[in-house]
Amino acid sequence: MNEQTNKLRWGILGAARMTEVMLPAIVEASNAQLVAVASRRPGAATGVLKKCGVGQSSINIYDNPDQLLDDPEVEAVYLPMANEEHAEWALRAIEHKKHVLCEKPMALKVADIDAIEAAAKQHGVTVMEGFMYRLHPQHARAWEIINSGAIGEIRTVRSCFSFLMAPARTYRISRNIEQGGGAMWDIGCYAIHTCRMFFQELPTTVIASYKTIDSGADVSNIGVLDYGDGRYAQFDFSFERARRAEYELIGTKGGLKCHNVWSKASDTPIISWWNEAGEQQEEQLPPANHFRLEIEHFTDCVLNNHPPSLSLEDARQNCQTVVAALQSAQQGQSIKISTS
Ligand SMILES: NC(=O)c1ccc[n+]([C@@H]2O[C@H](COP(=O)([O-])OP(=O)(O)OC[C@H]3O[C@@H](n4cnc5c(N)ncnc54)[C@H](OP(=O)(O)O)[C@@H]3O)[C@@H](O)[C@H]2O)c1
Repeated sequence: MNEQTNKLRWGILGAARMTEVMLPAIVEASNAQLVAVASRRPGAATGVLKKCGVGQSSINIYDNPDQLLDDPEVEAVYLPMANEEHAEWALRAIEHKKHVLCEKPMALKVADIDAIEAAAKQHGVTVMEGFMYRLHPQHARAWEIINSGAIGEIRTVRSCFSFLMAPARTYRISRNIEQGGGAMWDIGCYAIHTCRMFFQELPTTVIASYKTIDSGADVSNIGVLDYGDGRYAQFDFSFERARRAEYELIGTKGGLKCHNVWSKASDTPIISWWNEAGEQQEEQLPPANHFRLEIEHFTDCVLNNHPPSLSLEDARQNCQTVVAALQSAQQGQSIKISTS
């Protein structure tokens, strides 16, 4: 911690497109200080600082992420590398005793999350998967409505994420699923994470179907998570459909829809709900920057030694569910999910 400002000192491990979002979030966060940025492409770290309008004089710039990990000034890192690099670099950062906010998906294999958890315990650092949307206050409002009993007991969750892939973004589908490419690792992990938020346990089985393209990446998926006793979560996500970023809950008495979920900080959050007693409401909430809230939450957890709201067990269960959904689509059959 910077003793003068009481701020946690952050480094960023890459000049990814996401760095253009998260670098300003770190700079704006009330309890964080950006001290270093690394990129394996010379000039790219400086470029992203310039693009974000952040002066470089007080920031250490590295052409090698290992050098950033050796920098004793850096206490926490944001890891925005490509999906298939997350587990390896999270482990490296943990071994250097850095706290790690890792972009989603934290890993492509459950065993890698187990290794990250063991290393984090050994080195006494905090690690969280970067599902930023969960820090948005609109979900707390959705829970208030649910907990008031207005829609009854939740029986169905439907979570949808889609947009038409822009030509400049096709790097997301140029690698196969095993290499971290495709819609599941990019957007499907959000849709599944959101379904899991409302049932808060592992599903018993998953059945899914997808379309893949020549590169071996999936581009359109649909599936159902079975939570037993007639409780189901349905996810669909795609790079080939009009934009939707929403979830809907159907309870025993009514329903609730959250209209702008994995959105930009400037988007207006809207929640609508109804019930059979004739109540019907649409609520607009103030926009909130869930990226900055994520940085502030993680930083607060580190500085005050609290567990983060997204645990490594949550990361493990999400990975397990995602892997089972991919297996189901590959094999054309439902897959049982083990709770052991
Ligand atoms: N939370 C969210 O809202 C959100 C949104 C989108 C993506 N994501 C996640 O964030 C992570 C990064 O996604 P992204 O789309 O920002 O990744 P990206 O731009 O492809 O960058 C990934 C890594 O590739 C390298 N790179 C970047 N541009 C490059 C280029 N032109 N040529 C060669 N290498 C390049 C960078 O490392 P070097 O700088 O070291 O070269 C960077 O760290 C992914 O895990 C993704 O799933 C999260």
